[in-house]
Formats: sequence, structure tokens, C-alpha cells
Amino acid sequence: MYDKIDRIIDEILLIQKGEPFLSALEKRIDRVPRIESGSEKNRARIGRLETSSRESLMRMLEREILECKNCPLHFNRTKAVPGIGNYNAKLMIIGEGPGKDEDIQGKPFVGRAGKLLTQLLSEIGISREEVYITNVVKCRPPDNRVPEESEIEACKGYLKRQIEIINPKIILLLGATALRAVIGEKSITKVRGEEIEIDGIIYLPTFHPAAVLRDENNKLPLIREDFRKLKELYERLA
Ligand code: URA
Ligand code: SF4
Repeated sequence: MYDKIDRIIDEILLIQKGEPFLSALEKRIDRVPRIESGSEKNRARIGRLETSSRESLMRMLEREILECKNCPLHFNRTKAVPGIGNYNAKLMIIGEGPGKDEDIQGKPFVGRAGKLLTQLLSEIGISREEVYITNVVKCRPPDNRVPEESEIEACKGYLKRQIEIINPKIILLLGATALRAVIGEKSITKVRGEEIEIDGIIYLPTFHPAAVLRDENNKLPLIREDFRKLKELYERLA
């Protein structure tokens, strides 16, 4: 009850100060705890957002990411890579971090690994346009090294906000970095292909497509198996 009254008062105060509604809304969302706690309620609220509000929030967040200097990865980037796709997606895909091509174009998964991802999606009848694709860190680590813990921490708030705004039903985690950063589990070989439900979202971990390209004989059949699972889930939930 107090929560509700507080929110109404906040809204009135912000609107009286002459701020546009969306900026008031963004401030409110900014203050609430991210995925760890209270998020189900928060996501439920965002789930009711109009498509246009969701789009405005994402565009604001993307602008913030493009200018971000929160960690040393910004020194070497050509372009930050916030994410791309459908802001109303039922499926969100999370990789590790931009590579060379992504850093140049400012778009995720456009290089070799990206082509494999696009192909695997199309094999199960899902187009890139209907999903939202992003990474754990938004700027390219030098020589494509694995992002450091401190860099992941510095960037994590953006990913959490993206998850909250899009409010997907399914999140596909590509590789060990995404798995560790998002749900804290360390072994991708142990949990790949398993549905993990947390706070009403189903997480499906699988190999990173770049790891598949390095070991096609062993990993390509396994990632295809996981994508069949994804298709099943997507048809059931989306
Ligand atoms: N690998 C990733 O993890 N992300 C990209 O965007 C491209 C390659
Ligand atoms: Fe900011 Fe993330 Fe880029 Fe670091 S990687 S500078 S935290 S956007």
C-alpha cells in the first residue's frame, strides 16, 4: 500500500517538476532493485508497458551504453555494441562480448560466430529480427580475451536493465561467460541443454558458437540438440 502511494507521489512530483512522463518512468525503474530481488513485481509492471514505452526505455539505455566509460574496455573500442533486435522479443540471446566485426559495425553477432548463430536459428524457424541479441560486456575485450570479472561487474547493470525492459520468456545463454555472469553457474558442459527457471524466466545454456566453430565435430551435433530444445520451448511459451 505504501509502496503504491509512494509511487503515485513520486510520479506527481516528477511530473510537476515538468519532466516528461517517460523520463519519470525511467528514473523509477532505475531506482528499483535489478534482477536479484523484487524483480518479478518489477518485470510484471514493465511487462504491461506499451510497446512504445519499452522502445523509448531501450533507446535511452542504448544511448547510455554508447557513451559509457565505466570500465577500461572503452579505451580500445571502435563502437560499443548495446544489442539489436525486437524490443518485444519472447526470446533473448546473450553472448560474451563483441569481437572484431561487432566492434567495427556496432552490432552483435555479425562475424563468423554470428553467421553460425543466424543459421542455427533459421534451422529452427526463428529469424534474427524476432529475437533480441546482446552480450555480457558491450565493448570488445582486446584480442577477444575473456572479459575480466571487474569488467563484467561494471557492465552488468546494463544487461539487467535490458532483461527487465524486454521481459523475455526465454533467455538463451551462449557459452561459459554468459552462464556465469547471468546465473552464476560455472560448468557449461554440465548444464548445457537444461532448462533453468529463475523468477519466471527460462534460461537455456548452450555452447558459444565460436567454441562450436573451434570443435565442430564434437560440438555441432550437441548445439543442434540444444536448439531443438529451444524450438520446443519457443513453440510452447512464445
Ligand atoms: N561473440 C560474442 O560473444 N558476441 C558477439 O557479439 C560476437 C561474437
Ligand atoms: Fe561501459 Fe560495459 Fe563498455 Fe565497460 S564494457 S565501458 S561497462 S559499456
